Amino acid sequence: MSTLLIVEDEPKMQRLLELNLSEEGYSVECAQDAESGLRLLRQGKIDLVLTDLKLPGMNGLEFLQAVKRSNAHLPVIVMTAYGTVETAVEAMKAGAGDYVLKPFSMEEIKLLIRKELDVHNLREENVTLREALGKRLEFKNIIARSPKMQEVLATVERVAPTNSTVFLGGESGVGKDLIARALHQHSRRAAGPFIKINCTAIPESLLESELFGYEKGAFTGAVGSKPGKFELADKGTIFLDEIGDMPGSIQAKLLRVLQDREFERLGGTKTLRVDVRVVAATNQDLRAALEQRTFREDLYYRLNVVPINIPPLRERKEEIPYLADFFLDRLAREAGKQLTGITPEAMRLLKDFHWPGNVRELENVIERAVALSTGTSLDAGDIQLDVSPSAPSRPSTTAPFPPQGMTLEQFEDEIIKEALRRAGGNKSQAARLLGLSRNALRYRLSKMGVPDEENSSQ
Ligand SMILES: Nc1ncnc2c1ncn2[C@@H]1O[C@H](COP(=O)(O)OP(=O)(O)OP(=O)(O)O)[C@@H](O)[C@H]1O
Ligand SMILES: [Mg+2]
Repeated sequence: MSTLLIVEDEPKMQRLLELNLSEEGYSVECAQDAESGLRLLRQGKIDLVLTDLKLPGMNGLEFLQAVKRSNAHLPVIVMTAYGTVETAVEAMKAGAGDYVLKPFSMEEIKLLIRKELDVHNLREENVTLREALGKRLEFKNIIARSPKMQEVLATVERVAPTNSTVFLGGESGVGKDLIARALHQHSRRAAGPFIKINCTAIPESLLESELFGYEKGAFTGAVGSKPGKFELADKGTIFLDEIGDMPGSIQAKLLRVLQDREFERLGGTKTLRVDVRVVAATNQDLRAALEQRTFREDLYYRLNVVPINIPPLRERKEEIPYLADFFLDRLAREAGKQLTGITPEAMRLLKDFHWPGNVRELENVIERAVALSTGTSLDAGDIQLDVSPSAPSRPSTTAPFPPQGMTLEQFEDEIIKEALRRAGGNKSQAARLLGLSRNALRYRLSKMGVPDEENSSQ
């Protein structure tokens, strides 16, 4: 039995919640203000906190922060009145698991509590289980040998069975599609539909009707009626790809679906309810869009319930050999070629490249190599890396610029490595080439994790 702590100063509301939630089988503790809430938290075992945002004395937001300080993993749901969505958003930023807008139905709050407890319990269970077994997570067709990707799979495993909205971030080609599908396959909805919609690929004028469907006569040319993707995804998962490109006009309607799971078809009057799990993805930095107000903040926090960030390939280079072998195996079979492996020299080339196009680019390079190869294994001559846009081989008139996907810092690191190569490893000479003092270079090298053998190149 889980214990809930309700912090609410309005006696009627408190009583109503206490009654309903006890009936639901929870053990319920109540507090009228933040201070007594914190006291109860210290005293006993509380599994979830449900708090009003407007409290006497210490307000709900401060209370939330205090709760999170004492136990960062404790799930908290905040209640707030209509018209104060901004505060709710603040609360999500401060670590609340979710929020409800007053007035809400008891059904709604019960569902939310169930969901938060589920996510929390699953996480605890998975962590202990895996720690006990010390095992590596393996998903079909997904290579995940780096700690960062293991972390991604652990999150997928833990949230897949819930209905929580998942928000996938990461550069182009890192595997967002792959992870979205894995979430569906490992969910209780696996037998239901997986519907993907790419917000960039569809013109703004069509996107709304694609998502929500339309009735006959809704617009010129609507000669019949048609269900939208949300209806088609009922009992399954909808994958909203490139969500950063969703036009403002549609964002409001999407927010409503996320909040209440209901909408109307274009030109329709009937309100439709659907049971869908939403997975969204973007390769943009949505925080910038939030600042420029092209993306709604409330929608962002509704989507960002469980964020999963997939790291770029250059931050998990240890995975390159596994990925390369995996692609070789599949692509050679598809091409009907007898290729048994990749030579060490070819592998070296692959490992040294910075992969602006991430895993997709690696897959393409292997595909090209398989097509070119005439031997029994891929060798360096078969590997054609696309260095054209970033590394001109002849002096160019344009200023040097970091290749796509590389940060300025990484670009600088590459230049430093190149200087060292040209100087044959002599740091004083490399420093001169770069116009740096020897100490400045040593500092940079230590930041890059290059061991400092002070006497080696005096
Ligand atoms: N960890 C992985 N293991 C095996 N294959 C992978 C992995 N990551 C990505 N891939 C493969 O790389 C290709 C690109 O991945 P995917 O389409 O999922 O990227 P994406 O992040 O959705 O890219 P975009 O932002 O351009 O849509 C796919 O063919 C996918 O199967
Ligand atoms: Mg994709």
